[in-house]
Amino acid sequence: MGKPKALATRPLFPAAQLILDASFDMDYWMQPERMPREELLKRVADREALVCMLTDKVDEELLTAAPKLRVAATVSVGYDNIDVAACTRHKVAATNTPGVLDDTTADFAWTLLMAVARRLVEGDTWIRSGSWPGWELDQLAGTDVYGKTLGIAGFGRIGRRMARRALGFQMRVIYSGRTRAPIEVEQELRAEFVEMDRLLRDADFVTLHVPLLPETRHLICKDTLGKMKRSAFLINTSRGPVVDEAALAEALENKQIAGAALDVYEFEPKVHPALLGRKNVVLAPHIGSASLETRTKMAVMAAENAATLFQGRRPPNALNAGALGL
Ligand code: NAP
Ligand code: GLV
Repeated sequence: MGKPKALATRPLFPAAQLILDASFDMDYWMQPERMPREELLKRVADREALVCMLTDKVDEELLTAAPKLRVAATVSVGYDNIDVAACTRHKVAATNTPGVLDDTTADFAWTLLMAVARRLVEGDTWIRSGSWPGWELDQLAGTDVYGKTLGIAGFGRIGRRMARRALGFQMRVIYSGRTRAPIEVEQELRAEFVEMDRLLRDADFVTLHVPLLPETRHLICKDTLGKMKRSAFLINTSRGPVVDEAALAEALENKQIAGAALDVYEFEPKVHPALLGRKNVVLAPHIGSASLETRTKMAVMAAENAATLFQGRRPPNALNAGALGL
């Protein structure tokens, strides 16, 4: 009997391809541009496994087009691109890549925080323009990070790594979320659980680490931005639609908050035009987990998730394992 057929919507790292090639008859989308939706629907039709990116939607339409599909493995921890309930209805295991990107993503959220607080990008742009006249006492005076209050919305894997890093900056850490963390975790990270309103009122830096869900869409909106300090900064490495980008642009215009640093956008890859011209906004192209080491680990994890099912075992990161009885 031949190997099961699988599709990957882009080439992966060699370590991941080794796993896939050993387990599947593979079809990799090799073109430099992203795989068009029509092509994906066509090429997934006879596949039993799909390794996809967070930009590929696995929904009712795709699942209907792929009657043989048994596993959809996204190379991301966020899985808002996958309709998990539809996967369950179609008896498809949906998997993601939790855990391996926590430190890398927290490092990057801190990079954004520091960059916007200390006006790094403005300085870099100034020097490259050739017009920097040399040191002056009040040049690009930003705001201190150490000793301030960090507000973490969503205290899961990455949120907690943010808190751990804040210890080194002697910060007060407050967090909000659906569930209160165990007392040992709060003690170790010196983090205090507060209501979201209090977090918005008290934090000098508000950093978002919730998944994109109907309840978290526009968690940051006109109303919540209005509760933040005028001196506060917003950092978003979660998902773009967690922030109402038009409301953020307006809040920055009205000086309701001091600045923002974003890795993700409401209508990715589009960015609200009003944000593009603002000096107090740092913009990154969704690279929170983008170290070579971590992206390799994510790709390997997705490959293993896909391959495991065909070895008669439960994929380690199946989101609907219980519902499918795996
Ligand atoms: P996680 O461990 O699942 O943590 C998410 C946290 O958010 C959990 O504590 C969860 O609470 C909380 N939460 C869920 N719904 C909430 C709500 N309605 N209100 C408040 N808090 C809520 O996830 P993670 O691994 O830290 O990743 C978080 C997100 O970051 C991912 O979903 C992804 O979208 C994003 N991300 C982005 C990048 C990037 O490249 N920019 C990289 C990695 C991840 P419970 O414990 O009650 O569930
Ligand atoms: C990246 O955004 C991820 O969810 O892994």
